[in-house]
Amino acid sequence: MRNIGVKIKGLGMHVPETVITNDDLTKFLDTSDEWITTRTGIKKRRVVKKGEDVVTLGVEAARKAIVNSQLNVSEIDAIICATSCPKHLYPSTACEIQKALDIKNAFAFDITAACTGFIYAIDIAQAYIQSGKYKNILIVATDTNSKFLNWEDRSICVLFGDGAGAMVLSSSNNDNDILGINLKSDGNLGHYITLPLSGKGYPSFEQDESSSQYISMLGKDVYKFVVSTIPQFIVDTIENSGLNADDIDYLVPHQANIRIIEAMQSRLNYEDSKVIINIQNYGNTSAASIPIALCEGISEGKIKTHSKVILCAFGAGMTWGAAIMNLDKGVY
Ligand SMILES: CC(C)(COP(=O)(O)OP(=O)(O)OC[C@H]1O[C@@H](n2cnc3c(N)ncnc32)[C@H](O)[C@@H]1OP(=O)(O)O)[C@@H](O)C(=O)NCCC(=O)NCCS
Repeated sequence: MRNIGVKIKGLGMHVPETVITNDDLTKFLDTSDEWITTRTGIKKRRVVKKGEDVVTLGVEAARKAIVNSQLNVSEIDAIICATSCPKHLYPSTACEIQKALDIKNAFAFDITAACTGFIYAIDIAQAYIQSGKYKNILIVATDTNSKFLNWEDRSICVLFGDGAGAMVLSSSNNDNDILGINLKSDGNLGHYITLPLSGKGYPSFEQDESSSQYISMLGKDVYKFVVSTIPQFIVDTIENSGLNADDIDYLVPHQANIRIIEAMQSRLNYEDSKVIINIQNYGNTSAASIPIALCEGISEGKIKTHSKVILCAFGAGMTWGAAIMNLDKGVY
């Protein structure tokens, strides 16, 4: 079978306008800028206002990625949306984005892999493209955590924000931008981060009293698991791709906690300029966190194109994953 390469054609991001600073949070929570900054690195986050949701954010990010890809929407074969905050289970967020952008020739579906969703979606898109069945795939990662936070729970609500990112991947005879990809999950750790969907069942029609509609998290357990697993996982991913840590120009990590990012940086022995950090401005935007960091890194000149990046995410499930990619000029 002929080898089909996968090319990154375009990137896009969109964040809502409304900003909530740490100082704003102190007006209704027993917290402080000092506590949040030293524990997490977060200074502010963006949140949706009335009328905004995963679809409106995702549409804007997707629109920009499609423009950057220089494709016509009619050429897109599939839309894969990574979200953990859908407006409803169906129609899927991907189908709603399809409708809003009039992407008529595509099929569309959502995946749930929490904050790792963007990396999982890249793996699915790569497999589709390399199978020869589809040529152009739009990935959208969009999350509005603010809608699922208990804003009275200071241990969790200070950590998250809202946003969206998108990427267009296409088949290529000449290039291959995905140099390695590695996905993992451990369902035994599912209780670390949960967002229950409760229903009422026949014949009792009783709702499970214990389940809330909020994100709950065993923060310390997540922290310990991530710092003991992810740095070595990144090293293994690089080695299994036949590369050395020095071959990679930039680490673009999931923006969940500055101390976790520092643990990755220290394991790779990377200087500050090789690690893309924007957690201070957005908090944890779940699946959108990596594509937002990628886009901003490029537009602010922190990431020079014609470079190799390693993306690494982790999240509820627990899920985790990493992808090594070439970034060409003009993608954003
Ligand atoms: C959540 C997290 C920041 C907490 O940091 P920590 O150093 O473990 O803090 P602790 O849980 O020990 O809390 C210490 C104290 O601060 C308090 N506290 C919690 N949130 C607070 C807040 N927003 N402001 C002030 N105090 C707070 C706690 O009540 C606790 O008080 P106590 O010692 O009197 O009981 C950290 O565990 C973390 O980042 N975990 C990973 C979370 C993550 O990345 N999740 C997303 C995965 S995709």
